[in-house]
Amino acid sequence: MGWFEERGGLQGTVAVITGGAGGIGEAVTYDLAANGVRTAVLDIDDKATDRLRETLGERGHDALVRHGDARDPETLSALFDAVDEWWGRVDTLVNVVGGTFRAPFTDTRPKGWDALIRINLTHVLHACSLAVPRMQAAGRGGSIINVTTVEAHRAAPGFSVYSAAKAAVTQFARTLAVEVAPDGIRVNNVAPDYTPTPNMTRISPESELQPERNRVAIPMARAGLVTDISGCVVFLASGLSGYVTGTTLHVDGGTKAAAGWLNWPDAGWQIQPPDTALR
Ligand SMILES: NC(=O)c1ccc[n+]([C@@H]2O[C@H](COP(=O)([O-])OP(=O)(O)OC[C@H]3O[C@@H](n4cnc5c(N)ncnc54)[C@H](O)[C@@H]3O)[C@@H](O)[C@H]2O)c1
Repeated sequence: MGWFEERGGLQGTVAVITGGAGGIGEAVTYDLAANGVRTAVLDIDDKATDRLRETLGERGHDALVRHGDARDPETLSALFDAVDEWWGRVDTLVNVVGGTFRAPFTDTRPKGWDALIRINLTHVLHACSLAVPRMQAAGRGGSIINVTTVEAHRAAPGFSVYSAAKAAVTQFARTLAVEVAPDGIRVNNVAPDYTPTPNMTRISPESELQPERNRVAIPMARAGLVTDISGCVVFLASGLSGYVTGTTLHVDGGTKAAAGWLNWPDAGWQIQPPDTALR
């Protein structure tokens, strides 16, 4: 066993991953499995769950892959019951499920707000309420990781309720982290910025100017990769982050740090657009 495997301590542990069959979640599942983690996945996309089940099987990974809706508390509860039966332990919970639509707040209605709160916040509460008592009873500690967003940490015009719901997850994680710290259970978030995933590019196709946009808007001059996010989830699940709790890892190529500074062609870093961009 190498240094990382030994210090990481992931081999043989069990992770529940909601939304773990596509996009960022799929990368999380594969990376945890590659580190010897037994994965229990719930995903609403039946084709993606079939594909994931097959690939994990081909790679010889012990996994439980279910098709279902993480917004439904009974479905979540049934997944945890199945994990109890299969492996009798839960060490990691990764809440990946989330999503949004773009609209000015005044064009939105309570039905839309409820939908955004359910898809971004409520299932996180349900999943944590199922994971934490199991982790406490086992007495081995655990790690809970929520996928939030940079929009939880800045204004997000057109995404007000999404941004509020993800900020609520961030604050919930902070408080839960303190409540369960004596049990050795850690609670953290990873906050991506723009990370193209199949669903995302289907809803909002990229233009051919996207690479130029990335060079201006993202300090590291490129979009995120799903593996940028999943690598950080593996770190937060592992013993390497054993003393890290109640915090957010910003996996955004520096956009949160830049806080509005843009790297304009010719003009370089500016907080205001250069004259050439306005003519
Ligand atoms: N992709 C980005 O640029 C980006 C940026 C910031 C934050 N995020 C956050 O990262 C997370 C994942 O984003 P993504 O782009 O991979 O999303 P995605 O739409 O590809 O969803 C990931 C997986 O979740 C599944 N899923 C969706 N709703 C579900 C439900 N109700 N129950 C079970 N499974 C469900 C999907 O089928 C998919 O396999 C979200 O929480 C999102 O808010 C993404």
